[in-house]
Amino acid sequence: MERIYITTPLYYVNAEPHLGHTYTTVVADTLKRYYRALGYDAFLLTGTDEHGDKIAQAAAADGTEPKAYADRVSNLFRSTWDECGIGYDHFIRTTDVYHKDYVQKILQKIYHAGDIYFGEYGGLYCYGCERFYTEKELLGGKCPDHQTAPEYISEKNYFFRMSKYQQQLIEVLQTRPDLVRPERYRTEVLAFLREPLEDLRISRPTSRLQWGIPLPFDSNYVTYVWFDALLNYVSALDHLGGDLLSTLWPTTNHLIAKDILKPHAIYWPTMLMAAGLPLYQHLNVHGYWNMDTGKMSKSLGNVIRPLEMKARFGMDAFRYFLLREMAFGQDAKFSEEALVTRINADLANNLGNFVSRVLAMQQKYFAGVVQPLSTNWAKEDYELRDSVKRADFDAEGFTKDLQFHRALEAIWWALDQANRYVVQTAPFTMIKDSDKKARVGEVLHHLLEVVRTLARVLAPFMPDTAVELKNLLAISDDALKAPWGQGFAAGHKVNPPKVLFPRIETEAKK
Ligand code: MSP
Repeated sequence: MERIYITTPLYYVNAEPHLGHTYTTVVADTLKRYYRALGYDAFLLTGTDEHGDKIAQAAAADGTEPKAYADRVSNLFRSTWDECGIGYDHFIRTTDVYHKDYVQKILQKIYHAGDIYFGEYGGLYCYGCERFYTEKELLGGKCPDHQTAPEYISEKNYFFRMSKYQQQLIEVLQTRPDLVRPERYRTEVLAFLREPLEDLRISRPTSRLQWGIPLPFDSNYVTYVWFDALLNYVSALDHLGGDLLSTLWPTTNHLIAKDILKPHAIYWPTMLMAAGLPLYQHLNVHGYWNMDTGKMSKSLGNVIRPLEMKARFGMDAFRYFLLREMAFGQDAKFSEEALVTRINADLANNLGNFVSRVLAMQQKYFAGVVQPLSTNWAKEDYELRDSVKRADFDAEGFTKDLQFHRALEAIWWALDQANRYVVQTAPFTMIKDSDKKARVGEVLHHLLEVVRTLARVLAPFMPDTAVELKNLLAISDDALKAPWGQGFAAGHKVNPPKVLFPRIETEAKK
């Protein structure tokens, strides 16, 4: 059986789950469902990133110990994904003991091989932020947060010999053009690699930071958070055992946003090279969600919370919006207005109305009983079937290419064709002529085939809706896969319609 390993970033526990985290996680879940339906053994990993300065500071501000603080927020991520119906197979925390052990094992291995060395690091240090700054990051020579000039200090630390792998990484990026995708991010990485790569400082002295994994070869230091966090993708598989590391790892599809491109496209592959592990299959990079009011932030009070969206609009409607609105790889804007417009236009008016209309006619004219199809189809019957098949085929290709918005566009194009077919054939007029009742039965049968196809193709994107459609049609999973015209047994009865997506009245209309 073919396999695919899908991962989300491990989210920092210094923020609660919001729109950005939800998007990546929903994409991961969509891909998993899509590959499962194709017969793959698809595995989804998500979790939380819990060590480092930022978390220690957030815990201190909260008046809690870092571990207790991390427990709370990590649980919040997990329960949020549960409530959102995200089908993750394993949830990893960087504070899990097995992960710590694995990180130490790899550190030891790389140290032993000579790719980790002890050296001196000098730089501009802000005591307020407890971090080094590069000249470029300063504003007028001052720390942008504290408005104070950082002090030059030098510190002994451990370094990973990343520079040694620069050429090898460039070669891999050239021979495997889809390693990092879409292309724009691969170009960005290659451009970055035109400059000499510096070695990576991978430790922090415990005099400054205790909240981390101790270096196995020097207890005066803890691991730098990226060296710790990136290894989760492998430590989880190592922990779960079996043949996961050997068979699943090479099928890895990482999902991240552009903010963490460098650690994933540069640190991570060079770390894997040093550890003697194969590289991931794809690093899939998406753009950023911005608010129409600017950046999303707690202080601006414009943070979009997934469970709030679910409660107000339904999870499937929110998923649909996220997947339909953002072109994977590019930035997108979030506004509630755009969300409501899409729900009303695409879900309530289009999809919802279409399904209700077909089921209502089936109920009214035939008490729900699906009528037989003759072998003598009309031209428009063939056209409808071919349009729907084409959309199905296109949606599949687009989904594989992570072009979810185009996949949904293709499905909605098929819906347009189906609505056109209703107008063309006008079953509601034909039914008035008793001679044409058999033809009305056929037309509705074709339309039910559209609904049946929708129940299958929408499943990765809108899983609850797909189940609702299947239940309305009263069919089994197996029947979902049958070819056009063979999905309903003789005398099969479908259910009466129900409202799938209520229209959302906007303020202006109240
Ligand atoms: N802990 C690191 C990742 C370690 S992975 C080994 C981290 N965490 S994070 O909480 O900041 O999450 C960043 C990720 O959250 C992004 O890469 C993206 O997946 C998601 N997003 C957070 N805000 C986002 C937007 N505004 N827009 C889109 N996605 C963003 O970085």
